[in-house]
Amino acid sequence: MKFSFVTLFPSLIEGYFSDSILSRAIENNKISLDFYNPRDYTDNKHNKVDAQMVGGGAGMIMTPQPLYDTLNKVRSDDTHIIFLTPVGKKFTQNDAKRLASKKHIVLVSGRYEGIDERVIEEFGDELFSIGDYILTGGELASMVVCDSISRNIDGVLGNSDSLDIESYENNILEAPSFSKPLSYQNRDVISEYSKGNHSKISQLKLKLSEAKTKYFRPDLQSKI
Ligand code: ADE
Repeated sequence: MKFSFVTLFPSLIEGYFSDSILSRAIENNKISLDFYNPRDYTDNKHNKVDAQMVGGGAGMIMTPQPLYDTLNKVRSDDTHIIFLTPVGKKFTQNDAKRLASKKHIVLVSGRYEGIDERVIEEFGDELFSIGDYILTGGELASMVVCDSISRNIDGVLGNSDSLDIESYENNILEAPSFSKPLSYQNRDVISEYSKGNHSKISQLKLKLSEAKTKYFRPDLQSKI
């Protein structure tokens, strides 16, 4: 899978992929990344990428020309172009799984007060928000989306079993987990976990998952 980041600030993103699981995924050719900076595609001598909104409004928005030229260069029959914006639909684990089978995902990050709507109309295959809050730009959101899609691509995680039991599978949160030691700072591992009866452990984990979901995420529970 290829990811192309369209951003005015590629250096904000690059570092995230230089270590750990995702850097290994790049080394093993499971994913590849490239970057396009709309500032490199401007047709004005000051490389300006923003302007005031027509009709008034506070702040500046990204003008169409640099983004049109950038995205015309990136777009192909294989691309799926995603805009990160607080007015998109909320990105979920189901989206991450669905998008893991695409060939080439393009993640477009807005800055300032957003992007001229004509760019989104022309190029947007999907629009995602990562939550009901406003970030200073789409870069963090594009990393979130890329990270969570990547770990659903075959061969990216060492142990693919871990994809089956984690939170949000079947709209339920994962049960609490523990490691050794069995007792630490006066807190003990749930005793049933260490007794070795795997069917009892599974039953208990399901109950704990249900209780956790009911308490922390009643909205998910109503989807079961
Ligand atoms: N850009 C600014 N805020 C955002 C959000 N919540 N999700 C995606 N992109 C954004």
